[in-house]
Amino acid sequence: MSFRSISKEALVGSVALGVVFVTGYFVGKRKSSRMSISKSHCGGKDNPLMQYVLNHSMREHPSLKNLRMRTMEHKWKGMMVACEQAQLMANLAKLIKSKKVLEIGVYTGYNTLNMALALPDDGTVVACDISEEYPNIGKPYWIEAGVEQKIDLRIQPALKTLDDLLAAGQAGTFDFVFIDADKVNYDNYYEKSLQLLRKGGIIAIDNVLWGGRVLNPSPDDQDTVAIDKLNKKLHRDARISLSMLTVGDGLTLAIKL
Ligand SMILES: C[S@@+](CC[C@H](N)C(=O)[O-])C[C@H]1O[C@@H](n2cnc3c(N)ncnc32)[C@H](O)[C@@H]1O
Ligand SMILES: *[C@@H]1O[C@H](CO)[C@@H](O)[C@H](O)[C@H]1NC(C)=O
Repeated sequence: MSFRSISKEALVGSVALGVVFVTGYFVGKRKSSRMSISKSHCGGKDNPLMQYVLNHSMREHPSLKNLRMRTMEHKWKGMMVACEQAQLMANLAKLIKSKKVLEIGVYTGYNTLNMALALPDDGTVVACDISEEYPNIGKPYWIEAGVEQKIDLRIQPALKTLDDLLAAGQAGTFDFVFIDADKVNYDNYYEKSLQLLRKGGIIAIDNVLWGGRVLNPSPDDQDTVAIDKLNKKLHRDARISLSMLTVGDGLTLAIKL
């Protein structure tokens, strides 16, 4: 009940202000189609109820906070995961006693660090990105937090890394996967992640609402089409159970049966 009213409040707030909490990321896209439930970056911005939620729930590690502040100076800061979403994912990873996490799309590594902090000493985050530049911004904070030895950063197309992991016999060994890279490959990431995941493991898929554009995907907008197609496929997929959450820009949790 309270969760519902929060989402509604945030939605009304966003529409009334004519803004979304996703900056940079969506520059150049049609304004009229933008719609976001909420994405905080731990400020709550102009939404007092979102602020209340953050004030009463966030327990951000000091190094995560430092990395967030550093990321907020970067031109693509809107790509960073919402911190309340990251905390939820850390809690889920702990709940299922995760040891092996896969992150597809690292950017400055806020969630990579978040996951590394959530894992036991012998845990690993395999972190995939094509950019060396963005994760380099985050590395000093991974070291500051003392968890860099848990992070296995692979700089190459994520599909290649997933194929490498499968070829190395790691199918069925991952506990938690976060899919947050290029949208046109979302279905490929999902299929390969499902192979890499153990039964009872979780795939979290980010941006499933894509600023509201999934409501009316224009056929020439490949990203929106890919997300909407995957959303429809997951709803029918008998290999998983699922929830679509209105946290951040929309987060689907797919649990492998
Ligand atoms: C939305 S950001 C990830 C945000 C990150 N999960 C966080 O916690 O802040 C998407 C990232 O995916 C990366 N990316 C884009 N295409 C990729 C590909 N084919 N393989 C691997 N990474 C890719 C981009 O360089 C970018 O850093
Ligand atoms: C949240 O915390 C900030 C900083 O302490 C404070 O200024 C703000 O009034 C609080 N807002 C709500 C709604 O709790």
